[in-house]
Amino acid sequence: MSMPENIQTIFQEFIQKSTPIFKNRDALNSHFTPETIPHRNQQINTIASILAPSLKGAKPSNIFIYGMTGTGKTLVSRYVGQELEKMSNQGTNQVKVLYINCKMRKIADTEYRLVAELCRLLGQEVPSTGLPTEQVYSTFFRVLDSYNWVVIIILDEIDTLVQKMSDNFLYNFTRINQELKKAKVSVVGITNDLNFIDILDPRVKSSLSEEEILFPPYNALELQDILRQRSDLGFMKSILTESVIPKCAALAAQEHGDARRALDLLRVAGELAERNKENIVKEEHVDFALEKIDYDRIIESVKSIPKQTKIVLYSVIKLVEENKENLQTGEIFNVYEDRCKDLGLTPLTQRRVSDLISELDMLGIINADVVSLGRYGRTRQIRLSVSNDIKEKIKKVLESNLVI
Ligand SMILES: Nc1ncnc2c1ncn2[C@@H]1O[C@H](COP(=O)(O)OP(=O)(O)O)[C@@H](O)[C@H]1O
Ligand SMILES: [Mg+2]
Repeated sequence: MSMPENIQTIFQEFIQKSTPIFKNRDALNSHFTPETIPHRNQQINTIASILAPSLKGAKPSNIFIYGMTGTGKTLVSRYVGQELEKMSNQGTNQVKVLYINCKMRKIADTEYRLVAELCRLLGQEVPSTGLPTEQVYSTFFRVLDSYNWVVIIILDEIDTLVQKMSDNFLYNFTRINQELKKAKVSVVGITNDLNFIDILDPRVKSSLSEEEILFPPYNALELQDILRQRSDLGFMKSILTESVIPKCAALAAQEHGDARRALDLLRVAGELAERNKENIVKEEHVDFALEKIDYDRIIESVKSIPKQTKIVLYSVIKLVEENKENLQTGEIFNVYEDRCKDLGLTPLTQRRVSDLISELDMLGIINADVVSLGRYGRTRQIRLSVSNDIKEKIKKVLESNLVI
């Protein structure tokens, strides 16, 4: 029984350690809601002004909010929604805000689930499967229309709905008001995907984006302010060397001004210092944090890619291990076909495999550049774009997943 003792030692050491790093680790988590939101006054005021008429029973314009990930869209819209409800509760009691993150599988992977969730948010339980979808809709309309209220429905990461449901769904959704006698509904759609609005049906587009609000990326100085606010809550006093926050901010600003990434870097840097039993967080911890976050991200995405893509990736790794560089689709396809046979699977066509290679390229796991062969035309040169360590880890993940 040596294991439990070991674990006990770890726990005891952790508790007894003289200089703890964190005061409140949660404050550095991206789910934490800060009390103030620096550098988003303009967006907060605009959204608040658009939604304010709901306090007098009028239907506000639909709003479309867009911007890259980590620019504060979710935080700001939930915040304005909460404040609006608070104000309404003090007075007319006329406003209800419903928030749904459409990316959440169990909540919004079908039209049924989404509408059932809206019912639940309105206080009406609906079984999570089993009823005809029309019946769920009619329940929804019935509860919705039971008061003279203005209901603001925030659909966060709305682009993921379009992948799962038809454009028709959003079209109907933006026309809800035509079905209602007492209630009024406004939709706030939020997306990280800047091209999303262009792919929408023009009717949906014009209705959804009566007002459009852009959340621009944060610059490094803005990110520093956001990090300082959180680190004051999260870390013990004087635990960070001076350069830590500027470094996290600069790295996140280089990417696309992503506050979530900046926070992750800061938190993970603290965790790495803690794990090494050091009592100060230094710049080098941020460097390690950067590596660790990318590593974790890649391993997570390898775990979640479909089986056929896994086999394609495994084939690339096999070829790389034979010291082949600059692979071509044909070579990869041959290895892939053999693997499929070994696994008793029907191989996809070379064309499909070529698409899967592009997907792996987009995930940043491999690099597929088109190169010119002069008069022989063009071809793709494919390489792994991860370090040796990560390659080994990916291989293990694939082998345990595929039973190769
Ligand atoms: N202006 C800000 N002030 C404080 N924290 C912020 C600010 N903007 C973003 N954050 C934090 O950064 C993280 C990502 O923000 P979020 O609203 O989820 O971004 P988005 O929805 O645009 O992807 C969250 O932890 C959020 O609390
Ligand atoms: Mg968000």
